[in-house]
Amino acid sequence: MAGFGETALLTAGLIAVAVVVVYTLRLGAPPWPSSPRARRVLLEAVPTESAIDGEILELGCGWGGLALALAARYPDRRVLGVELSPVPWAVARLRALAGRVGNLEIQRADLHRVDLSGAGLIVCYLNRDAMSRLAERAATEARPGTWIVSNTFGLGDGRPVARRFVGDLYRTEILVYRIGEDSDGISDDATGPRFAHTRDC
Ligand SMILES: C[S@@+](CC[C@H](N)C(=O)[O-])C[C@H]1O[C@@H](n2cnc3c(N)ncnc32)[C@H](O)[C@@H]1O
Repeated sequence: MAGFGETALLTAGLIAVAVVVVYTLRLGAPPWPSSPRARRVLLEAVPTESAIDGEILELGCGWGGLALALAARYPDRRVLGVELSPVPWAVARLRALAGRVGNLEIQRADLHRVDLSGAGLIVCYLNRDAMSRLAERAATEARPGTWIVSNTFGLGDGRPVARRFVGDLYRTEILVYRIGEDSDGISDDATGPRFAHTRDC
């Protein structure tokens, strides 16, 4: 027979799973992390630190794995991970605290209400609807020059300045956008993202 501790643990686990399911249905996006391969390609596709003017936002940071990697990639920038689903948010926050990552903050918030005006780089892996809403807001709220890097889903009708294939079975792409620019307006220079192995748009 299960003891009190085991029963309590099992109950807590079931409640946590139920909360994750409810929020997945509500938000239309599961807290499914970017695959290790997609994360690696994304981290290669993001701009160099000197090409970014502003803070780094990860919208929908899930369990925090990519947010931690971004904080390590940009040690001198503030990285803000935003997550609404309570269980992934709590885990991401604990991971940031446990790792004593000084430049990473994890906030529980709706990404559609986050101020985009201070962002220099926005990273996301969401869904089509959320990306369309983000595209509309970014067009008016984000400053010209802000980078948006998305795993899989395009930024509304926007034209990416670069795209990189992850090389997996799903033909996953990492799409790079820059507010105020399209693919004709960017060159493969030292201050932009490293576009080697990148398909021209
Ligand atoms: C597919 S996961 C991506 C996790 C992480 N960004 C990664 O790439 O590893 C998408 C996350 O976005 C979150 N999300 C979806 N809509 C949201 C919203 N309106 N506000 C905050 N988070 C949201 C989901 O809860 C989920 O954890």
